[in-house]
Amino acid sequence: MQKLIIQGGFPLEGQISISGAKNAALPILCAALLTRESLVVDNVPDLQDITTMQSLLQQMGVNVTTPASSRIELCASHLTHLVAPYEMVKTMRAAILVLGPLLARAGEANISLPGGCAIGLRPVDQHIKGLQAMGADIAIKHGYIQAVAKKLRGARIVFDIVTVTGTENLMMAATLAEGITTLENAAREPEIVDLANCLRKMGAKIHGAGTDIITIEGVPVLHGGEYNVMPDRIETGTFLVAATATGGDIRLLNTSSNLLDAVLDKLTEAGAHIESAENWIHLHMTKKPQSINLRTAPYPAFPTDMQAQFMSLNCIADGTAIITETIFENRLMHVQELKRMNADIEVEGNAAIIHGIPKLDGAHVMATDLRASASLVIAGLTAQGETLIDRIYHLDRGYENIEGKLSALGARIRRTTSS
Ligand code: EPU
Repeated sequence: MQKLIIQGGFPLEGQISISGAKNAALPILCAALLTRESLVVDNVPDLQDITTMQSLLQQMGVNVTTPASSRIELCASHLTHLVAPYEMVKTMRAAILVLGPLLARAGEANISLPGGCAIGLRPVDQHIKGLQAMGADIAIKHGYIQAVAKKLRGARIVFDIVTVTGTENLMMAATLAEGITTLENAAREPEIVDLANCLRKMGAKIHGAGTDIITIEGVPVLHGGEYNVMPDRIETGTFLVAATATGGDIRLLNTSSNLLDAVLDKLTEAGAHIESAENWIHLHMTKKPQSINLRTAPYPAFPTDMQAQFMSLNCIADGTAIITETIFENRLMHVQELKRMNADIEVEGNAAIIHGIPKLDGAHVMATDLRASASLVIAGLTAQGETLIDRIYHLDRGYENIEGKLSALGARIRRTTSS
């Protein structure tokens, strides 16, 4: 199994380019199911989750090619197998995103229930409820969502909770439904706007993406097109936290500060100097970070996908901070690993109280999920001595060439396959 070895104590300095957003690319690849014509997607990150999604689409009969790096061409002219098997869904929950498009285009889908995952229960009841409101007949049998619908109908759907992939699934399904669908209490994440922009390029009629009411007027068919995926705001935020924690000076290219206002506000509060223009962000940190309280919530508030990274920053900040996780019920697993590095953290329910200490100690730690892994990398970069991070396959699901990018910024980091 692969591991990362980090020698801590070196500030990040220099510039790197940010990759395309994983959580925008995944639904956009699924949008290819909605048309017989070819969809070319650019700025796709090279990640394990993207490879899994490509395999999933291929086994459904989609012709997938990669004509150049970061570019994927998909053509779903003939769908042969309307199934997402358990083996794939269990490694990548985003596989649920094929449900809406398959049902809308082919009238049938058989998708394994994702089951629980490390960060929480993560049910998909809102996806199912919405498709039922649009006329789908759905049964859960043998662990699979078995859905049929001759023709989906537009409907008014009010989500009970804000769900990102739930909003994306129903928005895609509604593009080919008969009549008008309104999604209320919809998620407002930038990745939803990116998907809507791609669908619009394919001929969909969508208004209000980025607000909590999205209206979709169904059309008989969608056509192919070309689309460039937005930058990854969570990769961007992760590097910015790493630079803040190490007292660094970095410039991130091909990204945008507009995507992460809440994160930049917190980094400024921690003491970082940040400048930005249309497609770059520069961060400079000259002092010890100040501790910062935060509470995760749906966009535009502070993202749950940045919570773990800020935990590591608070571990070595001046003062005491409280971090409250409100989106997922089990997303504080990195705390146990950070404590192995001597961090002073108490957990009470869904909150962590972090008392900053001068330095973390390098240690052997284990990655438990994608963003928890990123927090351990940041902790390792700041720690005294060597940190060995095990189970980094989690990290490879969501960060393209992380050790290459960190090395380019002067980090002492290497990958090993030794036991
Ligand atoms: N939920 C339900 N019922 C549903 C759907 C969601 O109860 O039908 C609950 C979830 O259990 C959770 C909350 O609603 O407590 C929000 O979950 P959401 O559906 O928004 O999460 P998701 O769509 O499964 C996406 C990202 C996650 C990110 C969350 C929250 C993708 C592929 N994944 O997941 O990204 O944490 O939104 O912003 O877009 C990551 O990249 O590391 C990651 C986990």
